[in-house]
Amino acid sequence: MTEMERFRQECKDAFTEDKLVFGEGPSHFPRLMLIGEAPGEQEALQGRPFVGKAGKNLDFFLEAVHVKREEIYITNVVKVRPTKLSAAGRIVNRPPDKEEKARFTPWLMREIVLVRPQAIVTLGNVALQAFVDDVIGNRHGRWSEANISSDDKNAFALPLFALYHPASVIYNRSLKTTYEADLQVLAETLPVKTNG
Ligand code: URA
Repeated sequence: MTEMERFRQECKDAFTEDKLVFGEGPSHFPRLMLIGEAPGEQEALQGRPFVGKAGKNLDFFLEAVHVKREEIYITNVVKVRPTKLSAAGRIVNRPPDKEEKARFTPWLMREIVLVRPQAIVTLGNVALQAFVDDVIGNRHGRWSEANISSDDKNAFALPLFALYHPASVIYNRSLKTTYEADLQVLAETLPVKTNG
C-alpha cells in the first residue's frame, strides 16, 4: 500500500459518508496544489474533483496560468458533497458548514504533508480559511504564507496564492476582471518547476 492509499483508506474509515471525492494528480512534489471547496453533483457521481461545470472553469484557469491538469494536484477541503433539499424538493449543493470544514481540515493538512506541493492556490473563502483567518477580499491576487501542520512537531510554511472561487465569478460578473487580473499575476509569478 502506498502512503497515498493508506491516507485514503484511513480517511474513508474516519467518515461514515460513502462517497468521498479525493484529490488527483501527481502526488509527490507537484508544482502546484489547487484547493477548492467541496465536490458538487458531477464530482460526487464521477468520484473526481473539478469535473462537469467546475471542470470548465478549471480549464480557463489552466490556460491562463499555462499549466496542464496532469502536472498539478487538485483537491478540495471537504471531500463529501454537501447537499440540501431545495424548495422544489430536489437535492442541491450547499456550502460546507462549520462542522464539515472542521472535520475535514486535518485531513487536508495530512494530504499536503504527503504531497508536498511547491505552492498552494486556494479558490474562494472556504479553502483560504483552512489556512488563515481572513477573507478573500483582503488576500486575493497575491502570495502569502500557509502554515502546514498535521501534528505540532512538523510544521512548515508553503507559498499560498489566493483566488476568488471561479463559481463566484460566474454569479458576480463584477469579479471577473479582478479574477482575470489575479490569474495574470499568478501566471507571471508561479514558481518554476524544479523537480518531481
Ligand atoms: N467542484 C469541486 O471539486 N470543487 C469546488 O470547489 C467546486 C466544484
